[in-house]
Amino acid sequence: MMIDLHSHILPGVDDGARTIEESMDMIRAARDQGFRGIILTPHYIANTDYQSRVKENKALFKALKKTVKDQGIDLFLFLGNEVCYRVGILKLIENGDFTTMNGSRYFLIETKSHLPDLFNFEAFLFKLQLKGYTTIIAHPERYDFVQKDPNVLGNLVAKGSLAQMNILSLTGFYGTRAQACAEILLTHNMVHFLASDAHKPKSYEEFAIARERAIDLVGEKKVSQMLKENPGRVLVDEAINISEPKRYEESKKRKRSLKSLWEK
Ligand SMILES: [Fe+2]
Repeated sequence: MMIDLHSHILPGVDDGARTIEESMDMIRAARDQGFRGIILTPHYIANTDYQSRVKENKALFKALKKTVKDQGIDLFLFLGNEVCYRVGILKLIENGDFTTMNGSRYFLIETKSHLPDLFNFEAFLFKLQLKGYTTIIAHPERYDFVQKDPNVLGNLVAKGSLAQMNILSLTGFYGTRAQACAEILLTHNMVHFLASDAHKPKSYEEFAIARERAIDLVGEKKVSQMLKENPGRVLVDEAINISEPKRYEESKKRKRSLKSLWEK
């Protein structure tokens, strides 16, 4: 059963669905692609408009679930958050400002594309792990610091974090750098989940093409693990077995082509 681990479908709380009608359009689009479950992961970004509290999210979630049921759509919804890393954000966990994925040990974490303080980010992930959480890094292929050196993500994975790729990165939806990086991460065992990060119904349009690309790169079994088995384990709060990340050795050709991209 395919489960979408990352979506902005909860209405009116971030830059995703604005109304319950838009939420329903997205849910129908996901169902048409074969998803049977979706985790709603509204942004939590401290000191911005995107910090609706868990209590508020739960009320919207309840209303949305009822609409799905009333319209006879065969799909299960779950609640989580996509938490944006900020220095000092750890203390907000106890306030109930944001939540894990379906109340499990798994936290979905995003960060800025240009990370000036990798050391502090690592320390943040480590502190969460010490508290018993498992950190899932959202869309690493989109971050400048991972595009420049994919082994940075490999090291974070080796230290206990998991990673979620936006599947549309494989079709070039987020640009050529993200696409090239996505292919590297996928083929070097650095990714554990494929998800939509859907903000609009059209976010699901190219899903089938993207899934085929993923299968071409790593095979059906691994793609199934990343779309079905691993998100399923998140929902029931079970541990996920991972393969050791492979070190990426940059070819001279890639070095040259990357250099020309940075210089553009
Ligand atoms: Fe997101």
